[in-house]
Amino acid sequence: MAQPQQRPVQGVVRFYNFLSEETSFLDEVLAGLEKPQKALPPKYFYDAQGCSLFEQICELPEYYPTRTELAIMAEHAPAMAKFLGPGCQLIEFGSGSSRKTRLLLQQLQPPLYVPIDIAGDAMRAAAGSLAQAFPWLNINGVCADYTKPLTLPAFVGVPIRRKAVYFPGSTIGNFTPPEAIEFLRLARQTVGAGGALLIGVDLKKDKRVLDAAYDDAAGVTAAFNLNLLARINRELGGDFQLRRFRHRAFYDERKGWIEMHIESLAAQFAHVGGRRFSFSQGETILTEISCKYAVDEFRALAQRAGFAPVQTWTDATGQFSVHAMNAVQ
Ligand code: AVJ
Repeated sequence: MAQPQQRPVQGVVRFYNFLSEETSFLDEVLAGLEKPQKALPPKYFYDAQGCSLFEQICELPEYYPTRTELAIMAEHAPAMAKFLGPGCQLIEFGSGSSRKTRLLLQQLQPPLYVPIDIAGDAMRAAAGSLAQAFPWLNINGVCADYTKPLTLPAFVGVPIRRKAVYFPGSTIGNFTPPEAIEFLRLARQTVGAGGALLIGVDLKKDKRVLDAAYDDAAGVTAAFNLNLLARINRELGGDFQLRRFRHRAFYDERKGWIEMHIESLAAQFAHVGGRRFSFSQGETILTEISCKYAVDEFRALAQRAGFAPVQTWTDATGQFSVHAMNAVQ
């Protein structure tokens, strides 16, 4: 690949840790298990074990989103780069393994790339390999919980024409639609006037396809889900007996989202942080929702958060979408 003249030969790579104290995991677990419908935040899936299981999910025959979005990126990254334009600071939420980002960075060649992820080690590793692939790239890696407001580190020395949030993977689906609007309003603030949004959104489709994608035959998604209890045992000294729970996932057509639960197979107790939690047989912990949108439905939602839809790319079979939007006002 020819290097553009204006790029530095060697990019500057920095890492920041904005993750608040270790207590928040315990606090959020206790608060979630006290609810009438027990619930745990999906962001805690991603410890080292969970990241590795998620990478395996992405390879499953039933889990279409990753390969479908990758194919959309492979085909349309040049158009996406054209939309974002030169001098665009690229801020990525939940950067993960960065395979899709690679396709975008190659085309866009941004002055600054800011990956933000709660899984700090995974983000560092991914940023490290990106720095190898694109030696000219300036990277400000941030370990943070991007579901909370945060101030990004300033980067002096390169002119920035506009900021864009890149939010691939349909992770926006982890929010309910009202929460998604709130979250996109934060993103709108992050990019400011003249900013942009490039976001991957999984589309509504046949329930059988969706059910299989979140309850695969090999049981990888089940292992991913139950790892949350294993992580609580490992890091918070919990005593969940994993064999007494099972994975449950189904598409609720009325709500338009996947619900993922951990179901108790018996009446039992579990302890975390000196507290005792009781489970009746069949009682569940809600661990994740994954909301699915029609193209127009998502455009309308983003408009309520201050974004004007510009272009949407989908695959030939209409399984997945990537939206380009501009900040309004
Ligand atoms: C990473 C949130 C996009 O909702 O499809 C995959 C997570 N959960 N299989 C999704 C997930 C179960 C995934 N996101």
